[in-house]
Amino acid sequence: MQVIEPPLEVRDKILRVGGVSTLELAQKFGTPLFVTDENRIRENYKRIVGAFTTAYRKFSLQYALKANNNLSILRILRSMDSGADCSCIEEITLAKKAGYPSNRIIYTGNFNSDIELKLALKEGVMINLDDVAQLPRLRQFGKPEILSFRINPGVGKGRYAGLVFGGRRTKFGIEEKKAVKGYLSAKRSGIRHFGIHVMSGSAILEKKYFPKVAERLLNIAGRIAKKVGIEFEFINIGGGFGIPYKPSEKALDIEFIGKEVGELFTKLPSELSLGTPTLMIEPGRYIVGDTTILLAKVHGKKKGTVTTYVGTDAGMNTLLRPALYGAYHQVYVANRMFHRPNPEKITICGQICENTDVIAEGRRLPLIKEGDILAILNAGAYGFAMSSQYNNRPRAAEVLVNGGTVDLIRERETVSDLTLHQKIPERLKN
Ligand code: LLP
Repeated sequence: MQVIEPPLEVRDKILRVGGVSTLELAQKFGTPLFVTDENRIRENYKRIVGAFTTAYRKFSLQYALKANNNLSILRILRSMDSGADCSCIEEITLAKKAGYPSNRIIYTGNFNSDIELKLALKEGVMINLDDVAQLPRLRQFGKPEILSFRINPGVGKGRYAGLVFGGRRTKFGIEEKKAVKGYLSAKRSGIRHFGIHVMSGSAILEKKYFPKVAERLLNIAGRIAKKVGIEFEFINIGGGFGIPYKPSEKALDIEFIGKEVGELFTKLPSELSLGTPTLMIEPGRYIVGDTTILLAKVHGKKKGTVTTYVGTDAGMNTLLRPALYGAYHQVYVANRMFHRPNPEKITICGQICENTDVIAEGRRLPLIKEGDILAILNAGAYGFAMSSQYNNRPRAAEVLVNGGTVDLIRERETVSDLTLHQKIPERLKN
């Protein structure tokens, strides 16, 4: 047995995950199939919590459900005392179903409707507003126990242009000056407990970025606290912690980040009269990204004019990231591990009627034959979550592996799921 990168191992040239052969999984559950390793979720969670709490103990991790919202995965994280970051009421409902208590859920919507504001209040979660104008609308329905605003810190970073959420070209967050007004009117309207939040980008692999943003936010919080005469119970520096997708990339030095941010939180709040706030983070990708591989079966190979296409049953409907951002996902031939790469470069695609239906481009892999099983790595974050029924294709199944045991945690959709909510008017029947 040879470990290649946790949670992946190779035995007899066959890729294994969580102690199980990927070929057996593909055979038993069919493809495309998302396979998630439970231990890896636990390891990732412990590593990031450990990194932050070593330097600053008053800490809370809000797992960003949007990255992967499978109920079993949510339960694993809840059992480790995770909180939840929800972007809509439906995610709050899901978090509650998985056992998250209201006081450990933060709700960060944007352009919330009245009904959403009303329901968020009813649920009793921490409410994080993305616009000051939402405050009077929220106050029509009641008073939140604790309120925060999402700040645009003036800087942002992200692996792709579409993943930058701070700075000048983004719909997210509130500039400091406006936020002062927001907190002032919140205080005047009788709200007593406050937090402050930032989420300035995703898939960031630059370790120094995180302490930089934390320092910016702490200083912004200090100025607001002074002007408004409030304290902050939590200061949320967001998610965005990247994972390596390319073989040449190194894992983020999360210990460095935890230590630097923790030290800032130890030092700055007393200098800025901020009390002792809870340090909050809300990662998605870091917790689940590398826990999951996507298995796909090869159904054909075709020589094009400039490249050879390898067609599989996983396409942009199964894993949208390559089509949407040009994202890179490493691919293995699961039944031919360690074979020498073929000189010929290939493009791996799906079965969808779009030319953007690409999973990987210009790759050199061992010779691929029809019937081979490909493993697409790092599919745990924004994988199933962004999959669709495009071309009238059912969504994939998900299994959870753990030291040799396998559980189906989401059944493959069937053809009847595809028309589940459709209605045919009487006049069109017959
Ligand atoms: N908090 C908020 C308010 C967010 O909007 C997000 C992600 C997160 C936390 C978690 O971010 P993470 O730690 O996972 O970077 N679809 C893209 C990623 C979009 C992220 C959207 N917001 C992808 O496939 O890479």
